[in-house]
Amino acid sequence: MWTSLQAAHEPTFLRSSRCGSRSRFWTLAVGAAVGIFLLGFLIGWMSKPWDQLPAMGSNEKTKKSFMMEMKAENIKQFLYNFTRRPHLAGTQENLRLAEQIQAQWKEFGLDSVQLAPYEVLLSYPNGTNPNYISIIDEQGHEIFNTSLFEPPPPGYEDIQDIVPPYNSFSAQGTPEGDLVYVNYGSIEDFHRLEREMGINCSGKIVIARYGKIFRGNKVRNAEQAGAKGVILYSDPADSCAPGVDPYPQGWNLPGGGAQRGNVIFLNGAGDALTPGYPAKDYTYRYDDSEVVGILKIPVHPIGYHDAEQLLRDMGGPAPPDDSWKGNLSVPYNIGPGFKGTASKRKVKMHIHSFKKMAKIYNVIGTLRGATEPDRYVILGGHRDSWVFGGIDPQSGAAVVHEIVRSFGKLKQQGWRPRRTVIFASWDAEEFGLIGSTEWAEEHVKILQERGVAYINADSSIEGNYTLRVECTPLMYSLVYNLTKEISSPDKGFEGKSLYESWYEKSPSTEHKDVPSIGKLGSGNDFEVFFQRLGVASGRARYTKNWKVDRYSSYPVYHSVYETYEIVERFYDPTFKNHLAVAQVRGGLVFEMADSLVIPFDCRDYAKALKSYIQVINNMTLKHQTALATYSISLDPLFSAANNFSKAADDFHQRLLKLDTNNPIAVRSLNDQLMFLERAFIDPLGLPDRPFYRHIIFAPNSHNKYAGVSFPGIYDAMFDIASKADQRKAWREVKRQISIAAFTVAAAAETLKETA
Ligand SMILES: *[C@@H]1O[C@H](CO)[C@@H](O)[C@H](O)[C@H]1NC(C)=O
Ligand SMILES: *[C@@H]1O[C@H](CO)[C@@H](O)[C@H](O)[C@H]1NC(C)=O
Ligand SMILES: *[C@@H]1O[C@H](CO)[C@@H](O)[C@H](O)[C@H]1NC(C)=O
Ligand SMILES: *[C@@H]1O[C@H](CO)[C@@H](O)[C@H](O)[C@H]1NC(C)=O
Ligand SMILES: *[C@@H]1O[C@H](CO)[C@@H](O)[C@H](O)[C@H]1NC(C)=O
Ligand SMILES: *[C@@H]1O[C@H](CO)[C@@H](O)[C@H](O)[C@H]1NC(C)=O
Ligand SMILES: *[C@@H]1O[C@H](CO)[C@@H](O)[C@H](O)[C@H]1NC(C)=O
Ligand SMILES: *[C@@H]1O[C@H](CO)[C@@H](O)[C@H](O)[C@H]1NC(C)=O
Ligand SMILES: *[C@@H]1O[C@H](CO)[C@@H](O)[C@H](O)[C@H]1NC(C)=O
Ligand SMILES: [Zn+2]
Repeated sequence: MWTSLQAAHEPTFLRSSRCGSRSRFWTLAVGAAVGIFLLGFLIGWMSKPWDQLPAMGSNEKTKKSFMMEMKAENIKQFLYNFTRRPHLAGTQENLRLAEQIQAQWKEFGLDSVQLAPYEVLLSYPNGTNPNYISIIDEQGHEIFNTSLFEPPPPGYEDIQDIVPPYNSFSAQGTPEGDLVYVNYGSIEDFHRLEREMGINCSGKIVIARYGKIFRGNKVRNAEQAGAKGVILYSDPADSCAPGVDPYPQGWNLPGGGAQRGNVIFLNGAGDALTPGYPAKDYTYRYDDSEVVGILKIPVHPIGYHDAEQLLRDMGGPAPPDDSWKGNLSVPYNIGPGFKGTASKRKVKMHIHSFKKMAKIYNVIGTLRGATEPDRYVILGGHRDSWVFGGIDPQSGAAVVHEIVRSFGKLKQQGWRPRRTVIFASWDAEEFGLIGSTEWAEEHVKILQERGVAYINADSSIEGNYTLRVECTPLMYSLVYNLTKEISSPDKGFEGKSLYESWYEKSPSTEHKDVPSIGKLGSGNDFEVFFQRLGVASGRARYTKNWKVDRYSSYPVYHSVYETYEIVERFYDPTFKNHLAVAQVRGGLVFEMADSLVIPFDCRDYAKALKSYIQVINNMTLKHQTALATYSISLDPLFSAANNFSKAADDFHQRLLKLDTNNPIAVRSLNDQLMFLERAFIDPLGLPDRPFYRHIIFAPNSHNKYAGVSFPGIYDAMFDIASKADQRKAWREVKRQISIAAFTVAAAAETLKETA
């Protein structure tokens, strides 16, 4: 990939010199163009002729002033302001913050800022009947109870309205029984229990450690294994970094901390009562028996101090290997039940959380485009938090706020982007991406017709090591180019670009010479835009060193200890990492909104498709007999990808010859770029997941957070050897291959010359 030395040493936004070829041009051009210069000044600094220099790109000068407008200090102030109180979805406090953001975005200069309310199904603990888990003795006495709340962090002791740890959308119930330890509760863990160890979870309460996969998948796996309750706990192995103190001395999770989080299986449906449609006052609501995604068994999260008490006396077989052992001083026996003198004891769950209709509020701000107001680039991130939201989401919302302020500043100076930019502060993300999904459902028609791109902006940090990006292949080139223009905030990379530190710390394993970029899965608000609607999407944040740090997510994730102070003391004292993330997110939005030609490279999609087919090909290698028996071939898929590749190359050639003075030609090519992601959408959706419609990417069926490529084929082949009806299973594989081949071929057609 274009590893031009020039680009590598190109000045960053925080330095001031210009790159070689451009400065040579300047020497010649400046003298000659003084007249035009002055004229241009009179006409308005927006339309200065040299600003048109990168004919297909954005206005470099305006971009630079936009990037330099963003300040670490402002992000810090906004984070402080947003984290004074809890902002749980459906509460007064979160409505107040919505109104504050609305007022401030107006002040910043946006053209309009509206609240977009929806009435949706949420879930809360019962304030007078707390959730907990107990160990009961033979007489039924509760001899141990898990804690009802987390000890509040210093400075926050007097804050009311801290919701205790709970799993929203858990079923109610008081199941009682023997415990089974199921490791992470992954599908592989349950297979191991059932197939290798002969452990039957039917009628048991299972205890799973948090980590590796989305918590909802753990609960669904447990339910399918017949469990009647699930305890989720944070093991120090997964929620503590070695040698780091618990908060407030360090940034590890204290033993009394627990991870909140939803356990609903919406699969992209949004509000559980109005799947597919916006939850407006006139909208038909499903009744209790029809609700989407709610699992039938009670679930509750606990910290590792309480977990130690539950795990300590467990009997049954020892863990099958070290991958089943956490870092508590307990044997990690599988159970079922306790051993020795404790063998008559049982575990009882008390779960009384209830579902409730609540009003949620997105804040939607728009900055109208000057030339193509009917083309939208969207920057969205959530505002609701479990408690203070120090990291999730406010470290992201503070960055969005600073991006809006910086766009507003340019607009107040008379500038407008070429295309419309929409800013969104989503509500109820924590309850299942509900605010963003309802809004996209309401505006589905115009988003399909006019949506150019969506950039997601949840937490800006989950570590302080390097950048982490997940995006559509269409954005790879833009992300690489942009990060070459941003200063690295990392120690030891002074004067170097973000690209350089990112590349050194996180090189791609498949493609040489570039930093690694991941696939979009779900678990965040881009889901409806990308997986349902096919709007090109991306996300970026600062992350930890995954090779060294075994803990999943970050230790205090979704606990009361996610405070402003943990960010300010331990994660990013200078807020330079936040600023770098602001420049990436804001820079992406700027480029996509302002470039004459949408800065997507369809050739990278072609390359990605080919590598994803190799993954599928690899999966089929050990099934040659079955492929022959059921006459299954990947040839059509290879053929479609080759055709796509050819179409992408040809398209790119035409793009290089584009007459940029012909607005119809420009618009026509841009529409092909904009609609390319849409071409991968199958309106029928994936099997049993009608709202996951992208044929190339989907959330992993066994871990909502992760993305998989060619999900239809992947799922059809998953654990195929254990399927009872092999003929039926392989015919489904065949069907999925044909759907994938068709979709890729059809997408290729959209890139061809239009007549
Ligand atoms: C946050 O900032 C806004 C705008 O300056 C201000 O009105 C509000 O009082 C601040 N909130 C808190 C909790 O400090
Ligand atoms: C909360 O629990 C109390 C006491 O058991 C009960 O009376 C009340 O109905 C519950 N509230 C809800 C909303 O379920
Ligand atoms: C656990 O809570 C129950 C219900 O409040 C109470 O009866 C019991 O005494 C408690 N047990 C302990 C050990 O605190
Ligand atoms: C597990 O136990 C349940 C209830 O006792 C029984 O119905 C089921 O067949 C058992 N499953 C296996 C795989 O043995
Ligand atoms: C695990 O426990 C050992 C011994 O208590 C400790 O040295 C180590 O740092 C712990 N590791 C983690 C990840 O907590
Ligand atoms: C921040 O970076 C330092 C230096 O690499 C590291 O020791 C520390 O653990 C990091 N802090 C967090 C919160 O990840
Ligand atoms: C990235 O930069 C290269 C080298 O300047 C350029 O050829 C390419 O078009 C850029 N990509 C995008 C998407 O703008
Ligand atoms: C396919 O499998 C081979 C051998 O296991 C491995 O070297 C290669 O990286 C795999 N390729 C892909 C695309 O997964
Ligand atoms: C790819 O293009 C060739 C030549 O036009 C065509 O014969 C073939 O059917 C195409 N492949 C697919 C899967 O559409
Ligand atoms: Zn979040």
